[in-house]
Amino acid sequence: MPKFESFQEKLNSFDSSLPIDSAWMLPASWYTDSDFLALEKELVFKKSWQPVARLSQLEEENSYVTGVTADIPWVITRGPEGELRAFYNICRHKGREVVRGCGKAERGELVCGYHAWKFNTEGKLKSAPKMGGVKNFNLDEMSLVPLAVEAWGNWAFINGDLNAEPLSRQLKELNKRFDERSIEKYKFHSTKEWIINCNWKVFNDNYLDGGYHIPFMHPSLDAQIDMENYKTECFENYNIQSSPANQKNGELSYDHKERIGDGSIYAWVYPNFTLNLYGNCLDSNYVTPLGEDKCHVRYEFYFTEDCSEEFIENSIAQSDVTQVEDIEICESVQVGLKSGAYTAGRYAPQLEVGEYHFHQLLAKNLRQ
Ligand code: FES
Ligand SMILES: [Fe+2]
Repeated sequence: MPKFESFQEKLNSFDSSLPIDSAWMLPASWYTDSDFLALEKELVFKKSWQPVARLSQLEEENSYVTGVTADIPWVITRGPEGELRAFYNICRHKGREVVRGCGKAERGELVCGYHAWKFNTEGKLKSAPKMGGVKNFNLDEMSLVPLAVEAWGNWAFINGDLNAEPLSRQLKELNKRFDERSIEKYKFHSTKEWIINCNWKVFNDNYLDGGYHIPFMHPSLDAQIDMENYKTECFENYNIQSSPANQKNGELSYDHKERIGDGSIYAWVYPNFTLNLYGNCLDSNYVTPLGEDKCHVRYEFYFTEDCSEEFIENSIAQSDVTQVEDIEICESVQVGLKSGAYTAGRYAPQLEVGEYHFHQLLAKNLRQ
């Protein structure tokens, strides 16, 4: 009879007190057990800043954007006085999503499609047809449930923790690095979405391995960046990997030189958002769970205005090559994690520093 560990035993089976050279990685169960995902949804995804929309989708007065992220149905509105607000997109009548997709709230009203209860962009219930005569029914007590919202970079972030420290205050060093590279000059071009058969943390881990896999899995990327000088710096709830452009392999093609420019910055913000900055392009990756062994990844591509269409096409194609290679890795790792033959691995102490950082933050978060 196999011995089944309790959830608490699984949670305790990662020792976060050890330094990187003595530590073991997260145990396989953390990536395969649905109880972990349930706990992560409550403690991680509901209580961290999630970059759910682009500010460019919310420029107009009364515009709104909706979505569902890790079981959080959300709506962000831009009020008539320019205020951004966010709410659970859940009608107070029967729990239907009030609105779907994105658009403009006519007359500033979000009208639930089910029985036409009307909320304004401040989340207040303004009218509820056929509810006259209901006892103790107070419109003021039936507002949409608020979420915290913050604009940072090109994104509107939401957070289920209304007292969360503002993101811009948390990301001080990153703000500085991006200011130095004039982040505002990168303009939105397009998005790409992927569904990957792996736990969301596998995707993160792969991103955070300090470039360890780059020479083996991404030959074309490897030729462009200087792996000898690749480094990872950890800050409180984010880390920055960076690498200068590769000068050693002789002449890079014009596109490659342009693309890498002054070197690349790979910034990761706990728990699931990354920003990759190159010479004249920037892309963001946002990974969210769809199940314990399935995740969704949204890429957004940004380019400086001087980029030609041909350059942009090549650059996105280059990113796709890397992404397809990474998907293959991540899906294969998930097979190994589920096999029962793998318990936990060890960190390469000079390289897998960002991954160790992520695991430490996650363990602290799940054990709070
Ligand atoms: S569920 Fe929204 S009006 Fe009935
Ligand atoms: Fe990769």
